[in-house]
Amino acid sequence: MSVNPVGSIRNLGLGRTWRVTAVAAAAAMLVACGGAGGGGEQAAADQTYLIKFPHVTAPSTPKGQAAQRFKELAEERFPGRVAVEIYPSSQLMNDDDSLEALAFGEIQMIAVSLSKFDRLTHSYQVFDLPFLFPNLEAVEAFQASPAGRETLTELTDRGFLGLAFWHNGMKELGSPRPLHRPEDAAGLKFRIMESDVLQAQVLAIGGNPQKMALGEVYQALQTGAIDAQENTWSNIYSSKFYEVQPYITESNHGYIGYLVAVNPQFWQSLPDDIRTGLEEVVADVTEWGNAQSEAINQKGRADIVASGRSEIIELSPEELAAWQDAMRPVWDEFSGVIGQDLIDAAIAARP
Ligand code: SIN
Repeated sequence: MSVNPVGSIRNLGLGRTWRVTAVAAAAAMLVACGGAGGGGEQAAADQTYLIKFPHVTAPSTPKGQAAQRFKELAEERFPGRVAVEIYPSSQLMNDDDSLEALAFGEIQMIAVSLSKFDRLTHSYQVFDLPFLFPNLEAVEAFQASPAGRETLTELTDRGFLGLAFWHNGMKELGSPRPLHRPEDAAGLKFRIMESDVLQAQVLAIGGNPQKMALGEVYQALQTGAIDAQENTWSNIYSSKFYEVQPYITESNHGYIGYLVAVNPQFWQSLPDDIRTGLEEVVADVTEWGNAQSEAINQKGRADIVASGRSEIIELSPEELAAWQDAMRPVWDEFSGVIGQDLIDAAIAARP
């Protein structure tokens, strides 16, 4: 069996921005030199290809379930030839570290939130623009459009070969006090993912944004290091944020979805039949997972209601419009960076 141990590339002593940029450059050089792998043709017929696939959410979430199904279908299709190891719930590493590890070839597959690629590309920032996508159908229509499809593989020469976009769902706002209007959020410390658009979004409502890994959020809420957070129902439920957040505003103001990516050299080193077969498995899992992500999030919402621990605040049309007005300036702030054409393509694709 080929073994791809996850070594100690963490703690390089560099800031995250520089770390990821440097790693991506190194990975690009490897790709340009033909990669470090042995090439499909020379591979021994009895070799087992190990795919280490760490991620940060619970097995019950849309990503957790899709990752598990990928493992089952891949191993069923290629018995003894492909082994997939899934490490959920940040148990192996957080997302920042997994970006590095994938680019270095120390792991083979990731599904990292699109928000967390903003040091590598500005295109995915379009997915963070508040209220740009009214629902998952709108996201899916954009991702299937020519402009959306082009973004899938744009990080290949930086060490991330995009195979698919997976959904989680729409984001809600958890808070220590009821948030009916944007003014209610003034002064609150909001945990956000590592995204400059999300930072601007929180500033637009008078909050104080704090970038933080998902695995640190529960304790930060519990200790008061942060006051508030935004996430999907399935993440809020499975990470137990509802236990330490008495109010959740059902704002649906943004989207969480993932780039499913593999290490390009590893992928090219696979025998053709295995690579093509695994791409078919990813396509099947994408269809299966994206079709059930909304239901998984609604179950998370129902479970939170049943717990009685958090009150869910449903916004009136007038309140919703106030949130949209408050956050809308973020589009103009980032249109030059993301490209107005990409934003227009997202709007045009709305079903
Ligand atoms: C994820 O869903 O993978 C991560 C979301 C987060 O960091 O809040």
